[in-house]
Amino acid sequence: MMFYIKIFSRHITTKCFKQETWQSFHKYCPPLYRNSTGFLYPSRNPIKSISSFGRQYAKFSSIKEFRNHRSVLGMKITVPNYRTYSQGLSPEGRKRLQWATYLSCLIGVGLMSAIGLREFKKFKKTARGMEPIEPELGITGRHVVKYRYRGYVIPVYTADVMDNVFRFQVREDDTWVVSFPKAGTTWLTEMVYLIMSDLNYDDARQKTIDERVPFFEFVMPGLRSISKQPSPRIIKTHLPFSLLPTQLKEKKPKIIYIARNPKDTVVSYYHFTKALAKINYNGDFNHFFNEFFNNTMLFGPWWKHVKEGWQMRDEDNVLFLTYEQMKKDLPGTIRMVSMFLGKPLNEAEIEKLAEHCSFKNMKANPCVNYSWYEGWIYKKEHEEFMRKGIIGDWKNFMTDEMAKQMDDLVARELKGTGLQFYDVSPETRV
Ligand code: A3P
Repeated sequence: MMFYIKIFSRHITTKCFKQETWQSFHKYCPPLYRNSTGFLYPSRNPIKSISSFGRQYAKFSSIKEFRNHRSVLGMKITVPNYRTYSQGLSPEGRKRLQWATYLSCLIGVGLMSAIGLREFKKFKKTARGMEPIEPELGITGRHVVKYRYRGYVIPVYTADVMDNVFRFQVREDDTWVVSFPKAGTTWLTEMVYLIMSDLNYDDARQKTIDERVPFFEFVMPGLRSISKQPSPRIIKTHLPFSLLPTQLKEKKPKIIYIARNPKDTVVSYYHFTKALAKINYNGDFNHFFNEFFNNTMLFGPWWKHVKEGWQMRDEDNVLFLTYEQMKKDLPGTIRMVSMFLGKPLNEAEIEKLAEHCSFKNMKANPCVNYSWYEGWIYKKEHEEFMRKGIIGDWKNFMTDEMAKQMDDLVARELKGTGLQFYDVSPETRV
């Protein structure tokens, strides 16, 4: 039987060699010393010799041979193990060592489980037909944060719970706000919340919009928590209709879909993405614009998302709105939404709500302006969530060529649908 013993260099150098040992090492280890099993010590310098010695596997045919070998070298090598090491310790030290051992075992088990779970989740996603979108080095962080599923790009945390998303129990008295990111979701949600809560401004000034109206697919508060919320619930989501709970079709809750022209959407999305600490996006606008076309943007492609929303517009329980419509006639939109939700408001109430939902007031309102993201979800230096709130900001960012590219895309993808966007569709271009 053979024994392979690895001797760690640091242990040998720091603990086992005293002055006389260096000398004996020199004596017994000439520059090219070869032992009976062919092991080679390559250097004259004892320290170098020892470290190369330490890094090698010495091969011995018996424990006895190993002992002889040690004595030949004149070394006092103690290969440490738990028992010998702990014997040399005080009772207190032994206890500490015991705890350190338990702790490292626990960390080891924890790490192994975490890795196992991650691999299992990866496998589950692949089996479901989800394809990871590899991060672009230098542009984003290192981790896979996006998956492609049924033609859409979804975040990893949504991909992890997609089964639960489809199985989610919808209620008839729910209200859902559905949108592609940066379409004016927060704006519309604040309006819907106030209409549904019979204009409870006190509540609206005490709790953040995310506490009052949770994001359906986000980690916080999570599907389980939303499923326990009392009725009537208001839920917002960036998932397209085809990735929403199957029960939406039979329970027919009220659904409001909001869309925004793609040019301003992409500009707003770019600034928002740059602000997010976790995504750590370092690309310029040009790069982000290409992501829009290459369909690697979260919750995209935009055109597929809005087309699905538009196709649902004739359902009794669905209202299709645009950002531009809200911008041009906020009181009119409030009137329409309140009627749709079965909570009509009088003119004075509409006026007050329109004032509350003006850009200036929402920007200053800490319950809707996402200032609670500071130092956590947002990077230190970032654009505010309530950035400009205007139609046509794209003109400050897009070249003529980019604008044409976008016009062509809209003309191509939305052809025959009847869906038009102010500032983009030919009839409304300014
Ligand atoms: P900008 O980045 O162009 O300013 P979402 O809530 O879907 O993320 O959308 C955010 C966009 O809606 C931001 O666009 C934000 O400024 C705009 N917005 C929010 N409240 C608004 C309001 N009251 N009036 C106009 N725009 C508003």
